[in-house]
Amino acid sequence: MYEQTAVKSGEHDSFETDAEHVMQPELPTQDSALEDSVGQLSRVQNKLVDTLHALQLLPPHLVKDHSRAVRAVQEALTLVGDTDDSEAIGPIDWVKFGERLLQRRTAAALTQEWLADRVGVTATTIRQLEHHNRKARRSLMLKLLAVPELNLRVSDIELSAEMSAGYRLTPTSWLGPTYDPVSMVTQLAETLNGQSGQLEQTLAYIDPQSAKDWLTTCSAPEYSSTYRDSVPFAAMARKIANHVGEQALTVSALGCGDGRVEAVLTKHLQQNLRMPKQTELFLLDVSHSLLNAAYRHCCEALPEIRTYTIHGSFLDLPKMPMLVNPLRGRSRLFAMLGLTLVNLNDELRFFRDTLSCCAPGELFLCDLLIACAPANDRQKILKLDPVGDGKLRPSHEAFLSGPIRRYCQGVEDVDLRWELAPSGGVPGSYGFDAIARVKMRDGRPDRRFLMFRIRRYDPKLLSESLADLGWKTIERIDYGPDGKKSMALMLLQKQ
Ligand SMILES: C[S@@+](CC[C@H](N)C(=O)[O-])C[C@H]1O[C@@H](n2cnc3c(N)ncnc32)[C@H](O)[C@@H]1O
Repeated sequence: MYEQTAVKSGEHDSFETDAEHVMQPELPTQDSALEDSVGQLSRVQNKLVDTLHALQLLPPHLVKDHSRAVRAVQEALTLVGDTDDSEAIGPIDWVKFGERLLQRRTAAALTQEWLADRVGVTATTIRQLEHHNRKARRSLMLKLLAVPELNLRVSDIELSAEMSAGYRLTPTSWLGPTYDPVSMVTQLAETLNGQSGQLEQTLAYIDPQSAKDWLTTCSAPEYSSTYRDSVPFAAMARKIANHVGEQALTVSALGCGDGRVEAVLTKHLQQNLRMPKQTELFLLDVSHSLLNAAYRHCCEALPEIRTYTIHGSFLDLPKMPMLVNPLRGRSRLFAMLGLTLVNLNDELRFFRDTLSCCAPGELFLCDLLIACAPANDRQKILKLDPVGDGKLRPSHEAFLSGPIRRYCQGVEDVDLRWELAPSGGVPGSYGFDAIARVKMRDGRPDRRFLMFRIRRYDPKLLSESLADLGWKTIERIDYGPDGKKSMALMLLQKQ
């Protein structure tokens, strides 16, 4: 069926196989010889459509005579077209398809009559299709796809998510192979019921109330004006598009949170990429609640592109085939935004070990905080750093003290302060730890937990450290609110 092949571009072989395994209804068992041969023909057609799609996505310079090759596959498609025209196809977004057909036909200066003659129908049929008063049958779709002047792509035949409910379709959501929020909450509660300990930043977002508190934090006007509004996405998107060139782009957002920043980035990319409509967006987050918010926002903000969600941890990236399997005819950009990199326990190991699954040429975009003072001058750091006075913003304090109030049994009060972390780490960098001192009821001893970290870098020295690990900085833009360069947006490429 077209509606199936339309979403099976063959670029994500492994997870498509899984998806089919899970979602595909059983085929009827009473296959007669006729059904068998129809099935075989249909498989051949599907393969040709996949080939046509893959070929159209290839940068033309890779094939000696690209347009002739495309025409040849289109011709083959016509030759194996159905003889039986009875099978209606759907669920396709007929409105979009009609608009596209009209736009391609007029762009190619073809009359409805000429096209009708070419595909063996009446001009009325073409008119009705263009005005979505009629649905095309399968054989007609094949013939339209095979008209080179229209340059229709399989991806032009878009499925409508709502219309396709219950149908065999590309799924839009995956569970990471080891995703287990219950065990993460258990781990959180166990740590907070010990005498002391430290939490890896993943756990700060894991329960739904934490997700809600994070949404409150990141949607506050002062958060936007400090961290979001000045990010130079427009300039960086132009640079990324230059690196991507003729290829389509897959953006994988690691830790997408509410997805707002990722949507802005993708929108700017759309404006600069040569194949904007072929862009795909994968949203990955460990918080189901945040992922849900991000997905809804991105679908609304980016209606033209396909958005997928993955529930899982970016620390498990190598185990996620949909994010790391090689892509044909596509570039891949991993984006870790919202200063998530500066919260990691060990950013160098993240690049060296977790991102070792990335292929040479793949891109990684991250934002980070720039050091306010030399890493070895602790007095100066305490004096100049915005958190050197130890105070947390009220919304950040509510976000980070929440898990203690909810999971630490016997808590009476929580005091959270930023403390300068012990020296070490990436050369030129220093860190602050959000340390919670927990006063317990009934005279029990106080507890102490490291709830969260932030780190500030000398971007040049960080780039050198990452280059040693095979990640070359290819673009960097320093920025900040009020023109102060307190942050950097860095684009790296795997060597
Ligand atoms: C600082 S927020 C940034 C959110 C968003 N990118 C932005 O720009 O606002 C970090 C995000 O990463 C997610 N996160 C933290 N650890 C993660 C992990 N190990 N795997 C996947 N997501 C994670 C959190 O749930 C949160 O949404």
